[in-house]
Amino acid sequence: MYPATLALLRAPDAPNGSPLSLMESRSQRRGEIITGTACAVDGDCYPIANGILDLLPASLALSAAQRSNFLWPTTAFYEQVWRVRSLSLLAGEPFLVDREIAILNRWLRPERGGIFVDVGTSHGLYARNIAHRLRQSGATGTIIALDIAPPMLQRARELMTQKGYATIDLVRARGQAMPLPDESVDGVVNGGTFNEMGEQAQALAEVRRVLKPDGRFVCMSLLAGRTRAGRAMQHALHAGSGLLFPTVAETNALYQDAGLTITDQERYGGVLFTRAIQTKD
Ligand SMILES: C[S@@+](CC[C@H](N)C(=O)[O-])C[C@H]1O[C@@H](n2cnc3c(N)ncnc32)[C@H](O)[C@@H]1O
Repeated sequence: MYPATLALLRAPDAPNGSPLSLMESRSQRRGEIITGTACAVDGDCYPIANGILDLLPASLALSAAQRSNFLWPTTAFYEQVWRVRSLSLLAGEPFLVDREIAILNRWLRPERGGIFVDVGTSHGLYARNIAHRLRQSGATGTIIALDIAPPMLQRARELMTQKGYATIDLVRARGQAMPLPDESVDGVVNGGTFNEMGEQAQALAEVRRVLKPDGRFVCMSLLAGRTRAGRAMQHALHAGSGLLFPTVAETNALYQDAGLTITDQERYGGVLFTRAIQTKD
């Protein structure tokens, strides 16, 4: 956690309150706070450990799908085993990560620089890509990568450190209560977290709230099955896991209700890519 990023962040229950500031720094490395405590003025204090700021209580009410992200082997192998193959399986055609990242870059335009948020970053796939584009283009930017699962954030930390990405800051927070002021962010990305995070309307309302007027939201989400058998399976999955699979029409209605205007959308089998901006009054 870099002090400059800390100054962008707020307590999750007071997103337009005073910035967090460093109260105590027990260890730093090349300007990064590795261990310490950050506090809101007249507010709560939050620990920073292994460079990760933790804004959530230790115990949360979680769905079964969310709980799986706290468990080995998901935490260890999620990206390298499942994530890199999953879109090809779900899209029903070859869909390597490079193809997905090309859509993300085309719609997000990270090379413009700015502040980006990756909601439900897991191992940090989208966050690392944005950091890569910033580095390649020489643009100035910061990526705030959020997740609720500490083991996922720890793995993201290992991978970003291997690549030397100092532009990513990891924060334990919920996508439905982002620790950021209104209209403060240039881009929000969500890679598959939308189906898992629950409270989808609130998740999109938060995106609308934090996006600057020229900000972009890029989301990869999974769709309701096209066949009756597929939908029955998803229904059972929802009951057991809490995963939600809206249709395209349902997804788009959620965006509209949240005050987001869809500018681009591409469907590949069960995978939907959507780009949206603030709806103008
Ligand atoms: C399907 S994975 C997302 C993968 C990642 N975005 C990627 O592209 O590889 C879902 C992640 O979202 C996190 N998550 C679930 N609910 C969340 C919420 N309400 N807020 C933030 N993160 C959440 C989980 O811990 C998990 O790491």
